[in-house]
Amino acid sequence: MQMKPRVIVTRRWPAKVEALLAERFDAVLNDDDVPLTPADFATAFRTYDAILPTVSDRLPASVFPSEDCRTRLLANFGVGFSHIDVAAARDRGIAVTNTPGVLTDCTADIAMSLLLLVARRVGEGERQLRAGAWKGWCPTHLIGTRVSGKKLGIIGMGRIGKAMASRAHFGFGMDVVFYNRSKVEDDETRSMSARQLPSIEAVLAESDFVSLHCPGGAENKHLIDEARLSSMKPTAFLINTARGDVIDETALVHALDRGTIAGAGLDVYAEEPAVPGGLLARENVVLLPHLGSATTETREAMGMKALENLIAFFDGKPAPDRVV
Ligand code: DGY
Repeated sequence: MQMKPRVIVTRRWPAKVEALLAERFDAVLNDDDVPLTPADFATAFRTYDAILPTVSDRLPASVFPSEDCRTRLLANFGVGFSHIDVAAARDRGIAVTNTPGVLTDCTADIAMSLLLLVARRVGEGERQLRAGAWKGWCPTHLIGTRVSGKKLGIIGMGRIGKAMASRAHFGFGMDVVFYNRSKVEDDETRSMSARQLPSIEAVLAESDFVSLHCPGGAENKHLIDEARLSSMKPTAFLINTARGDVIDETALVHALDRGTIAGAGLDVYAEEPAVPGGLLARENVVLLPHLGSATTETREAMGMKALENLIAFFDGKPAPDRVV
């Protein structure tokens, strides 16, 4: 009988998908449910035919083995793969796959939630009420910023950027401007009269809300830095559901301290799960623990995509979502 490929799940998957995984693979589940350390990865590369990492695993070039590598596939549970040095994987003949498409709507929902939460001071209000500090209705109590009819700037008009723009435009009557490296001309952007502007600065300068939807990785590291924060309106809010290191977090804390911008809604951080103290301390920042794709439907769909990639790869067929 043919041996099943040995695979390791680094963080626990939805039970339904783990059960399907176990039918086809000799699957080891990391029951500690904490990210693997570099030493764990060294062992994993020697031991498993495939490693199934998530965004909370760090796979820089230094963790890839120079010899004695059994692993042929990294099937990432997630669309973003900037935590994996894909060039190092390619150099060692290791394939990498991801899970695009299935988390678009849920991630856009969280981006829109963050926008509303921070604009309307929802977190502050809930904290105040739960602390027993609410003194009753008052015309000047916790006054926020109106969302409907304002201007939203999108940085990165891919699948998730468009889904966010559509929620804002059709749901809240917002005007949409955007920056995208390549020209975007399609029915979806035309239907919401979204205007592509020539630079990030141009988008920042005229937007009441700026939402980041570009990939992470070296090319976008600190894309939003001190200078760019300064080109935002002092009344504007920054929303990030992309990757934490797209924003220079130190510059963001300074900008919030100085009132350069009005607030921020963040789902992602440069050194997750660590969150800078300067952000934790602020009332005008809404902080979520990387919940973009956290719904039953989406997490199961992501697992199914990772599984389809694994099955195709080990059946000798092209993996549908191969990155390298
Ligand atoms: C991804 O898939 O890249 C997300 O950030 C996880 O929700």
